[in-house]
Amino acid sequence: MLNFVYDNKTTLIFGKGTQHEAGALLKPFGKKVLLHYGGGSIKRSGLYGAVTASLKAAGVEYEELGGVQPNPTLPLVYEGIRLCREHSLGLVLAVGGGSVIDSAKAIALGVPHEGDVWNLYLSKQQPQADPLPVATVLTIPAAGSESSPNTVITNEETRRKLGYGSPKLRPVFSIINPELFFTLPHHQMANGVSDMMSHIFERYFTRTLHTDLSDGLCEATLRTIMRNARILNGNPHDYDAWAEIAFSGNIAHNNLLGVGREQDWGCHAMEHELSALYNVDHGAGLAVVTPAWMKYVSPKHQEMFAQFAVNVMGVEGSFREPEALIREGISRLERFYRELGLPTSMEELNIRSGDFPLMAEQAISVRGPIGGLEKLDARDVQAIYRLACEGPLPD
Ligand code: NZQ
Ligand code: ZN
Repeated sequence: MLNFVYDNKTTLIFGKGTQHEAGALLKPFGKKVLLHYGGGSIKRSGLYGAVTASLKAAGVEYEELGGVQPNPTLPLVYEGIRLCREHSLGLVLAVGGGSVIDSAKAIALGVPHEGDVWNLYLSKQQPQADPLPVATVLTIPAAGSESSPNTVITNEETRRKLGYGSPKLRPVFSIINPELFFTLPHHQMANGVSDMMSHIFERYFTRTLHTDLSDGLCEATLRTIMRNARILNGNPHDYDAWAEIAFSGNIAHNNLLGVGREQDWGCHAMEHELSALYNVDHGAGLAVVTPAWMKYVSPKHQEMFAQFAVNVMGVEGSFREPEALIREGISRLERFYRELGLPTSMEELNIRSGDFPLMAEQAISVRGPIGGLEKLDARDVQAIYRLACEGPLPD
């Protein structure tokens, strides 16, 4: 196990009716906030009315900025920064999913920053000034941004989708009421499940030895996600299944499962290029890239992938024939994605192979070769994109 420091300042307020506590929870952070949200789902569901009523009851004043789109972009971030400065707002309250929360974090980062906030995403430098605090009311369990230190923003002009991380960006609190997920379209549930599973894969597949506890926590969380996603597949109003998924999605990316081990993050880097060029949903892109990555790197890491097949995917067989275990493990993962209606080939996302060289170059352009388990250069990334064209393994 590697040395680690684990610090997670996000308070979780979890359960039924918790959205009504937003105003009271915000009061200690000052009187004026920016209420940030997406394309309208919170108005249709009544959540907007509940949150604004709770702000008013607690005497918290707010300016509002809606319109965050999935794969959030820079112009709205600049608008949010302007509003916060003009009205001296002291906190950004994100009511939405990963896109709204990431946009809120970018605004929070940009308000005290001299110069263009996008430069931080390019340079990865830590912020000189403390960002505004961010708080969230989560409406989709998926990205884990409700307690992660990360934000991912798309610059449409340069067609780049880049992440940025700072411990100072972890929200001060996040409200998670699983009842709020009942209104999610089925494909967004599936996208969320794919994303949170990937957050665990990026940590689970490692070269680091003596990681028994975190291996076991990763495996239990993956099994919990798959079991409950299957329940939601049949009954999208099952509160308990949503509660399990939401708790798992949070654990998947608050980095408790990643401490003490080298992490990978190759699939996320490869997927971000799909989202940047084709605006595909992040979870859908991951369902296409992940099995292809597994097929490409597993021959060199058979123990890790055989362990995955047995402990996560429930494959039975002999460790003397790891190839058979691994093949069945990957095949079961692909079948699970298909059960949820997720895509499993590039063709289903309408991605042109002619773009693979550009996407591969961009994937490695920020930090050089990607991936912790196996270092991937541009040639490897192109090979994985090509494997992802072939679709699932035959049964
Ligand atoms: O915009 P509205 O109208 O609210 O609709 C949203 C959006 O269209 C809808 N939705 C959300 N909650 C709903 C709902 N519809 C009905 N009922 C509800 N309760 O769902 C759509 C998708 O929302 P979005 O926020 O984009 O989803 P998600 O949470 O999957 O976030 C994806 C973004 O997070 C980034 C991804 O790259 C992507 O840009 N990520 C952020 C991470 C982080 N900050 O730590 C880590 C992740 O790896 C990921 O990269
Ligand atoms: Zn993700």
